[in-house]
Amino acid sequence: SEALPLAGVRALVSAGGTQEPLDPVRYLGNRSSGKQGVAVAKALHEAGADVDLVAAHVDLILPQEQAATASSPRFSVHRAGSAQELEDAMARRAEQADVIVMTAAVADFRPAEVAESKIKKTADPDDAPVIRLVRNPDILRGLVERRDLTGDTQVIVGFAAETGDARTDPLDFGRAKLERKGCDLLCVNQVGRDLVFGQDTTKVTVLAADGSPDRTVEGSKDDVAAALTQAIAQLIDHRR
Ligand code: C5P
Repeated sequence: SEALPLAGVRALVSAGGTQEPLDPVRYLGNRSSGKQGVAVAKALHEAGADVDLVAAHVDLILPQEQAATASSPRFSVHRAGSAQELEDAMARRAEQADVIVMTAAVADFRPAEVAESKIKKTADPDDAPVIRLVRNPDILRGLVERRDLTGDTQVIVGFAAETGDARTDPLDFGRAKLERKGCDLLCVNQVGRDLVFGQDTTKVTVLAADGSPDRTVEGSKDDVAAALTQAIAQLIDHRR
């Protein structure tokens, strides 16, 4: 039988939206459904990779854990709530990964303080708390820095949701992001208020490390995952 394109490859994929706690019952979140990240994890697994999926909040039922068998590779699922938990979960597994895909929507900010008990309203009807935010780490950037410091050859992939503006093409924003993050591939999603997040179809251009468009896919998130899997397999082939 023909070997699968990613046989023997270990993949680490993040999915979903982080939730940044305010108190024991409240958080700041985002509208990421986790569909794209889970689709990527499944596509990599189907292509023969052992997969570690780190899921933040997702709006779908996560795929089942699967032990490696003679006919199929391993699929493991781990949970992370906040950006800091996601960072830990990724950092713990980064060294063993041949490919890392950061599909998760990581909150850029988190509340500076997390209240130990539920924040209460006071008797004064005009009184409301002010929430101070602090920056979260850029997890993708940190993973690239670790890779470059250790001389690792792993492939690192980012996602970007870009709307563009009146004068700027979304792909130009994508190219600037690619350079800042230092990843090998960047999947640029064109988003608007009702586009992409939580939806079943999407338009993605995969940018290569030099900023040139590697391929464009318009279709389901599974179609995007399949195209990205091919792009990853080609990069890994070149490095082998
Ligand atoms: O910086 P921006 O959010 O536009 O970039 C998106 C990419 O960076 C995604 O791959 C996302 O998973 C990753 N990211 C991250 N840590 C952050 C913010 C985004 O890893 N704090």
